Amino acid sequence: MTKSVFEFGTNGLPPPHSDGRLDAPAFHRNHDAIWQAIEPFLHEKSGAVLEIGSGTGQHVMTYAGRSPRLTWWPSDMTASHLASIAAWRAASGLANLRAPQHIDLMEADWRWTGGADAKLAAILCCNVIHISPWRVTENLFSGASRQLGDGGHLLLYGPYKRDGVHTAPSNAAFDASLRARNPDWGVRDLADVTALAQRHGMTLAKIVEMPANNLVLAFEQH
Ligand SMILES: C[S@@+](CC[C@H](N)C(=O)[O-])C[C@H]1O[C@@H](n2cnc3c(N)ncnc32)[C@H](O)[C@@H]1O
Repeated sequence: MTKSVFEFGTNGLPPPHSDGRLDAPAFHRNHDAIWQAIEPFLHEKSGAVLEIGSGTGQHVMTYAGRSPRLTWWPSDMTASHLASIAAWRAASGLANLRAPQHIDLMEADWRWTGGADAKLAAILCCNVIHISPWRVTENLFSGASRQLGDGGHLLLYGPYKRDGVHTAPSNAAFDASLRARNPDWGVRDLADVTALAQRHGMTLAKIVEMPANNLVLAFEQH
């Protein structure tokens, strides 16, 4: 168990709508840029895409609306987030957006329960691995290597250090605030994440520089 959790609708973030829909202010700033970065890895794919740590559900709802050939499977570990994802899904009416499922990456043997023995075309995970212990990142990659098909991609979005150095003072301050809240949290180093991927048979296919000193990392399963 983490010593603290990140929960939308608390700590000054906007409260939920009456149906449980939560609104993440950052979604409005980042969802178009994230889509532009990840779409090249998705447009030739078909099948299932799992999102881990879907939060409010706004990203997965938006991206499902933009890619009707793909089936999107949201997930989270927080009850209020699962309720929000379900409420956004109901409001959207999208046929290719599945019901949210509980996935907690602290569990080493976590499993996507969507498609019997089917493999995933891609996994999307935005702003999770710095707001959780390193074990979550380890379990993300081990589970991705088990459940992604050949040529599948694990797409990560968030801030990263490069060679142990923050890419901006704002990222250093954010890292300090994360570690003050939970010493097991923190902005990860690109080299550590890439080495972990290689241990699980995945390679870093692309780094996309993003606004606000974030990166999209595309890891490919072989
Ligand atoms: C900062 S929010 C990001 C939410 C969303 N992806 C976004 O970018 O708006 C971090 C999310 O990670 C989820 N999370 C944290 N630890 C997790 C874990 N061990 N397993 C799965 N999800 C986790 C939280 O519940 C939360 O929804």
